[in-house]
Amino acid sequence: MGEDIKIIEPRTERLQLRQWTPSDRDPFAAMCADSQVMEYFPNTLSRSESDSIVENCQSFIAENGWGVWAAELIGSTEFIGIIGLHIPSADVPSSPCVEILWRLARPHWGHGYATEAASAALKVGFEQLNLQEIVSFAVVNNRRSRALMERLNMIDTGEVFAHPDVPASSLLQQHCLYNISKVNWLTNSA
Ligand SMILES: CC(C)(COP(=O)(O)OP(=O)(O)OC[C@H]1O[C@@H](n2cnc3c(N)ncnc32)[C@H](O)[C@@H]1OP(=O)(O)O)[C@@H](O)C(=O)NCCC(=O)NCCS
Repeated sequence: MGEDIKIIEPRTERLQLRQWTPSDRDPFAAMCADSQVMEYFPNTLSRSESDSIVENCQSFIAENGWGVWAAELIGSTEFIGIIGLHIPSADVPSSPCVEILWRLARPHWGHGYATEAASAALKVGFEQLNLQEIVSFAVVNNRRSRALMERLNMIDTGEVFAHPDVPASSLLQQHCLYNISKVNWLTNSA
């Protein structure tokens, strides 16, 4: 075995971001089968597709100590969604890069949970992983995701690109690209 990896599990006022457990599979599958949550993805996910994401997230965190975490509400321990840092497998304009991403179950929208969790994920990226830049991208008309990027003080690069994993025939192919540098993050956090 290699060296021991310290697993980073950020905690905020209301949320615990943590390594995945088997009990997350059911609520994650339900969230990924919800057409409203998946409105800006090419399709909802089957159980085997959502389980495969859980396995990938879990093993990436086990190997690296960070990644896309399961988010639970402190107190209730309820799984509410996923937030974290990810190396895109698709070739996007900012590649190689680390992106921040999010997906919350519908009942948990509108409470500021994504802002709170994503702020903690940016802090891990800049303070613990010493990244110089974190990017994010979304379907151009994904208003909620873009509003979240703006609440996080991410900058709209103005670049719009055709996401390589989305079919050219899809209205969801055009993505906008945001980023935040460590320097800007430090300025905003001061
Ligand atoms: C993108 C997504 C995570 C954003 O969720 P969200 O609930 O809009 O974002 P937040 O959790 O930060 O909550 C912000 C909202 O809560 C409100 N709010 C309530 N209490 C708050 C608090 N304590 N702090 C901050 N905002 C608070 C804000 O006013 C805002 O309301 P508004 O949407 O009416 O403007 C969610 O819509 C989602 O999971 N979408 C589907 C998946 C997806 O598209 N992912 C992105 C792919 S690129």
